[in-house]
Amino acid sequence: MKTIIEKITGDEEKDSSVISQAAEIIRKGGLVAFPTETVYGLGGDAFMEEAAAKIYAAKGRPSDNPLIVHISKPSDLNRLSDSIPANAWKLAERFWPGPLTIIVRKNDRVPMSVTGGLSTVAVRCPSHGTAARLIEESGTFIAAPSANLSGRPSPTTAEHVIEDLSGRVDMIIDEGAIEIGLESTIVDVTEDTPVILRPGFITKEMLDEVLGEVKLDKALMTGVKDGVKPKAPGMKYRHYAPKAELYIVEGNKSDVVGAMQKLLEEGIRAGRKIGIMTTSEDCTEFKGGYVISLGSGNNYNEIAANLFASLRKFDDLGVDVIYSEAFSEEGIGQAVMNRLLKAAGHKIIQV
Ligand code: TXA
Ligand code: MG
Repeated sequence: MKTIIEKITGDEEKDSSVISQAAEIIRKGGLVAFPTETVYGLGGDAFMEEAAAKIYAAKGRPSDNPLIVHISKPSDLNRLSDSIPANAWKLAERFWPGPLTIIVRKNDRVPMSVTGGLSTVAVRCPSHGTAARLIEESGTFIAAPSANLSGRPSPTTAEHVIEDLSGRVDMIIDEGAIEIGLESTIVDVTEDTPVILRPGFITKEMLDEVLGEVKLDKALMTGVKDGVKPKAPGMKYRHYAPKAELYIVEGNKSDVVGAMQKLLEEGIRAGRKIGIMTTSEDCTEFKGGYVISLGSGNNYNEIAANLFASLRKFDDLGVDVIYSEAFSEEGIGQAVMNRLLKAAGHKIIQV
């Protein structure tokens, strides 16, 4: 399949025609990768079974891992569920449009292929202008997972999408680098106490403020144990994994850098290509190896925005092992550590 690639440039006339072309593809049951405020998504008509099947095929994604349905105005939640708890509306009012996904019971209009056979549906109302216009113009809702091949880090630039999906989808809309860089926070409000199934830019503290009490899904930071069925099916799959083996090095700040330098030297002596993932403050401390800074340790938004691109860069460099600094789990740090732990398969070196 030939993939159409078009840029959004700020030239209103041209951008409108790009969005119209993309909306037309969605209406005909095709697939369009598009930017959102979190990561690039791979969209298809949420009410067409064939579109969902195409999404799973293009990503190489297991079909029991459900898709998020994207809407362009919060009140459209009413069209996907007949039993919306008050907590869902509280969240929608405060955080939509924005990087939050809300899980509610689905109604009969939502195809089972979209929800991976679950009786609930994940709904998100993105704040990104192009995403919102695309949904609106397509005249339907858009089912969209992240626009990466299954198992690869989520795409934060159009180049990442092209790398993974060129030739596998109808169109890719290029609007440069994404601001947040980590996928939306997912909250399940189907039970009395809402549960965070995936941490993100909307933090637990922000959710607590609106909902009173919010729980964190048990599997989040410890990994999914054998025999335990995770609530978000996506959590059981190997994720965000770079080709190299990734270890997180945790301990006192002053010890961590020294320990990582030692691991780096040992690795090089053993003839291996070693990657170091660190902060801009610490990166000058390392000698040898392939050192990538995620950004300032005082600006976790920057670290979040650079994480997935950095994991891909290590793949391009062909390193054998990556050692990454651990980050504080406060605020968006929780989302950063959740993705890092998944990428590392929960391998931690304590120093
Ligand atoms: O920021 C985002 O959420 C991006 C952009 C494109 O909107 N999308 C995204 O989708 O990250 P995806 O498919 O990569 O991740 C969706 C996650 C998966 O872990 C999936 O298992 C979970 O949401 N999920 C979807 N529907 C669910 C449901 N009904 N119950 C529990 N988890 C669900
Ligand atoms: Mg994904």
